Amino acid sequence: MCPGEGVQAPEEVEFTLESIERAASLEELERVRVALLGRHGSISEALKSLGTLPPELRRQRGQVLNRLRDEAEARIAARRRILEDALYRERLAAERIDVTMPGRDRLRGSLHPLTITLNRIVAILEQMGFRLADGPEIEDDWHNFEALNFPPHHPARAMHDTFYLPDGRLLRTHTSPVQLRAMREHRPPLRVIAAGKVYRSDSDQTHSPMFHQVEGLVVDEGVSFAQLKGTLSDFVAAFFERGFRMRFRPSYFPFTEPSAEVDLLWEPGDGSAPRWLEVLGCGMVHPRVLKNGGIDPERYTGFAFGLGVERFAMLRYGVSDLRAFFDNDLRFLAPFV
Ligand code: PHE
Repeated sequence: MCPGEGVQAPEEVEFTLESIERAASLEELERVRVALLGRHGSISEALKSLGTLPPELRRQRGQVLNRLRDEAEARIAARRRILEDALYRERLAAERIDVTMPGRDRLRGSLHPLTITLNRIVAILEQMGFRLADGPEIEDDWHNFEALNFPPHHPARAMHDTFYLPDGRLLRTHTSPVQLRAMREHRPPLRVIAAGKVYRSDSDQTHSPMFHQVEGLVVDEGVSFAQLKGTLSDFVAAFFERGFRMRFRPSYFPFTEPSAEVDLLWEPGDGSAPRWLEVLGCGMVHPRVLKNGGIDPERYTGFAFGLGVERFAMLRYGVSDLRAFFDNDLRFLAPFV
C-alpha cells in the first residue's frame, strides 16, 4: 500500500520525503531528517497534532503518519548508505597506493674519510699491542707545553699558533699532552695511543685550524730507537699495504731527544719523479718528560711518535687539497667507504 493513500499527507511532508533522495551529502541528508523527523520536524509535528482530531480521523491519520514516518526512516537509512558508500569510494580513490611504483631510495650515510682513516690507524696500532688513551681537547698549559719541556717563552711554542681561552687554558695543539696523562695514570710497561682533534690557528691548502693526530707512546725498560724504527715501518706498511723506503731525518721536538721526522719515498700516481714526503714526528721520550710523568728516567726509556691523520688520508686517497675534507660536499664525501 502506498503511504498517504486514503489520507492526503500535508503537502510539505510529501515534498520533504522526496528531498531525501535529492540530498547530495550526508550533511544535507541530516538537515532533511531533522526537517522530517526531528523534534519539530513536519512528521513529528503532524503526529503531535493527532490529539486534536476526532477519534475516527485520528486513527486513520495516525496509521498514515506512522507509515510515513517508517518510510521516511527507511529511505533516509538507504540514502545514508548510498552517500556513505560514495564517500568511502572517494576516499579509497584518493588514498590509492600504486604498489607497482618503484620504491624511494634511502640515502645511505657513510663514515667521513677522516673517520675511516683514523679508525684504520687505530685498528692497526691496536693490533700491534697499543691501547687507546684519552685526554681533553681543552688543555692546560702544563700538559700541552710545560710538562713536555716547553718552558715559558721557549721558541718552540711559537711554532704552535695556539688558540687560548680567556682563562689561560688552550685548545690542545697536539695529542702529546695525553702522554703525560697516560704516564701519570699507569705504571710502565706502557704502550698507548691517543687519537683525536687538535687545533692550530693556521689555514691553507695543507693546514686546517682543526685537524687530527694519532700519538703513540711506549715506555718500558730497555726501549730503543731501533724499536721505534721497526714499529713505524711496520705501521706504515700495514697502513698503505705496501713497503716504502723510509728516512729518519734528525729534527727537534722539546719532548723527545733524539728527535726525528720520518719521510716516505712517495711515487705520485701521475708519473712524476718520486719525492720524500714527511709523514711522522718521533723520538725518544725526553728524560725530563718521563720525570714529569712520574717515571724514573734512570730505569725506563720510551719512544713516542705523532702523525697527522689528514696527511695519511690525503696520501691514501690521492687528495691534494686538505680543505676538501672539511667542505662537506657530498659529491666528494659519498664515494668513500
Ligand atoms: N706532537 C708533535 C707535533 O704535533 C709530534 C710528535 C709526537 C713528535 C710525538 C714526536 C713525538 O708536531
